[in-house]
Parts: sequence; structure tokens; C-alpha cells
Amino acid sequence: MKNEVSVIGLGAMGSALAQALLHNGYSVTVWNRTSAKAEPLVREGAVLAPSVAAAVSASPVVLVCVEDYKITRSILATEEVAHALADRVLVELSSGTPQDARDAEAWALERGVDYLDGAIMATPSQIGRPDTPIFVSGAESAFRRSEPVLRSLAGNLIYMGESVGSAAAWDLATLSSLFGAIVGFFHGARIFESEGLHVGDLGSMIADISPLLGEMIKHAGDVIQTGIFDRPQSSVKTCTVAFELFVKQAREAGINSEFPTFGLGLFKKAIAAGYGEEEVAALIKVLRGDSERSRTA
Ligand SMILES: NC(=O)c1ccc[n+]([C@@H]2O[C@H](COP(=O)([O-])OP(=O)(O)OC[C@H]3O[C@@H](n4cnc5c(N)ncnc54)[C@H](OP(=O)(O)O)[C@@H]3O)[C@@H](O)[C@H]2O)c1
Repeated sequence: MKNEVSVIGLGAMGSALAQALLHNGYSVTVWNRTSAKAEPLVREGAVLAPSVAAAVSASPVVLVCVEDYKITRSILATEEVAHALADRVLVELSSGTPQDARDAEAWALERGVDYLDGAIMATPSQIGRPDTPIFVSGAESAFRRSEPVLRSLAGNLIYMGESVGSAAAWDLATLSSLFGAIVGFFHGARIFESEGLHVGDLGSMIADISPLLGEMIKHAGDVIQTGIFDRPQSSVKTCTVAFELFVKQAREAGINSEFPTFGLGLFKKAIAAGYGEEEVAALIKVLRGDSERSRTA
């Protein structure tokens, strides 16, 4: 039983998980609503289970990776599946919120299922690499029992502890950082296009200097954590100027200005609240509503 794992959900991500497990020598049982998606995996040695219950029964560790938690719940809803799950480890790898994770854990506990919540911080083609991150949280027993399987999918497997919502919180906060940067990148791409430059070169440059950019993010995190905003390396005022330049350039070049206009709005609120000379991380106070609270106090 040791090297057996079941994968429920064979979209882009579930298929990549099953494939990586096969490459790592696991006996893999799969199930997907649309069974045709299992065909390439079956050709590589996976077993297509005739039902969800059969998939769950086949292995001690069951990974689920479907669109969302509601779908997981609907797939696992039958008595037969609940019975099959009783001594299994269920690892939810679909994306969700911390509350989704807490609800799923409560559902699993009621049925005596060892539950681990996970969040994949990678694209399907990045699965199985030593540097691929997966965040997990929940019962330590579930983590220990599924750790070898998960490590073969993601060398950078990070257990966030027993508080089951942690992995989803880490996931959403990390994705927010990423997608904020990605939207900014798309605006940067429009600046490049408006100047006839190669957008591919911008992507390469960002990748090259990303450790330095990462240092800036880390510094902002430390500033917010310590609450010491009055020794700025880059002040709110300085960064506001950058956003004013984005808006000015967009007007001059006639390109979309929604992203810089949105950012400038936040920075203007920070200036109005008197944070202009503080570290740029003081923008968090606008997001917390600190200035509004002090105005109405
Ligand atoms: N792709 C990524 O880059 C990535 C990265 C990190 C995390 N994730 C997360 O991984 C999860 C799966 O993503 P994906 O990229 O594999 O998505 P996907 O390619 O769209 O696959 C969706 C999966 O959900 C199943 N599904 C949808 N509705 C269903 C229903 N009503 N009943 C049963 N099954 C249903 C699909 O089954 P059918 O094949 O039958 O439609 C398929 O297996 C998501 O939560 C996503 O956020 C994805």
C-alpha cells in the first residue's frame, strides 16, 4: 500500500500531479468526471477507477484537485465514498479560502477522515521539481502520512502547522503579491509596446532582477511587522511620484491607465492621511482603514 496514491480530478493540474507521481514510481489510481482525460495517464500506467469510491478505496493517500471545494464536497458526498475514506488521508489541493479549509476539515472530522489542506504555488509544468512549492496545513498525522507523496510533487513542501486555514492564507497572500505584480507587468508591457520595445525583454529583465525586487518586498514585510515606518528608504511621497509618472506616460502615449490610476488613488489617500514622509509600507495603514478610524474617532 505504501506506494499507492489516488488522484481525483484530472484537469491541467490534477493530470500533472498524476503524471509526476507515475514518474516517481507510484502506483496511481485516477478518477475524473470526464473519463477521457485519464487516457494519456492510463497509457503511462495509471489505473482508471470506475467510481470515486473505487478511487478512494485503492490507496491510503487520496489527492483531490478540482475547480473548487464545493465540487470536492459534491464528489465525495455519497455514503459509499465516506465509508471508503474512513482510514484514508485526504489531501485537498484545489484552491480555496481559509474558511473553505476549516469547513472541509470539519466535514472530514465528522467522518473520521485524516485531512490535510494544500495549496499548489506552481503551474502544471512546474510540478515535480525540487524548487516547486506546495503549502500544506492541518493535522500533523495527515501531514506525516502524505509527506512522501507530496514531496515527490514539490521539493519545496512547506508544512504551515495544524491550523488548517494557514495553507490557504499563505496561498492567497502569495498569489495577491504575484498577481499584483503581474497586473503591473501588463501595464509595463503596454509602456513597452507604446515605445516599440520588445515585451519579452521586459519579462527577462524582471526575472533577472527578481532577487532584488524580492528584497524590497521582504523589507516592506519587516516594516509592517515592526510598525516602524519613520525611517524610510523609499517614502510614500517618492513612490507617489512614480504613479504620477505612470499616469502621465499613459496619457501621453494614449494607453490604458486603469492600473496606475487605481494605484495613484491609494497613494493619494496615504498622502492625505499624512503618511507622505513615511516608508512606502505605510500604505498598509490606508488598507487597514487606520486614517478613516482616526478621523471618525
Ligand atoms: N493550473 C494552474 O496553474 C493551477 C495552479 C495552482 C493551483 N491550481 C488549482 O488546481 C485546481 C484545478 O485546476 P486546473 O488547472 O486543473 O483546472 P481545470 O483544468 O479547469 O480542471 C478542473 C477540474 O475540475 C473538475 N470539475 C469541474 N467541475 C466539476 C464538477 N461539477 N464535477 C466534477 N468535477 C468537476 C474538472 O473535471 P472535468 O475534466 O470533467 O471537467 C477537472 O478535473 C484549481 O482549484 C486551481 O485553482 C491550478
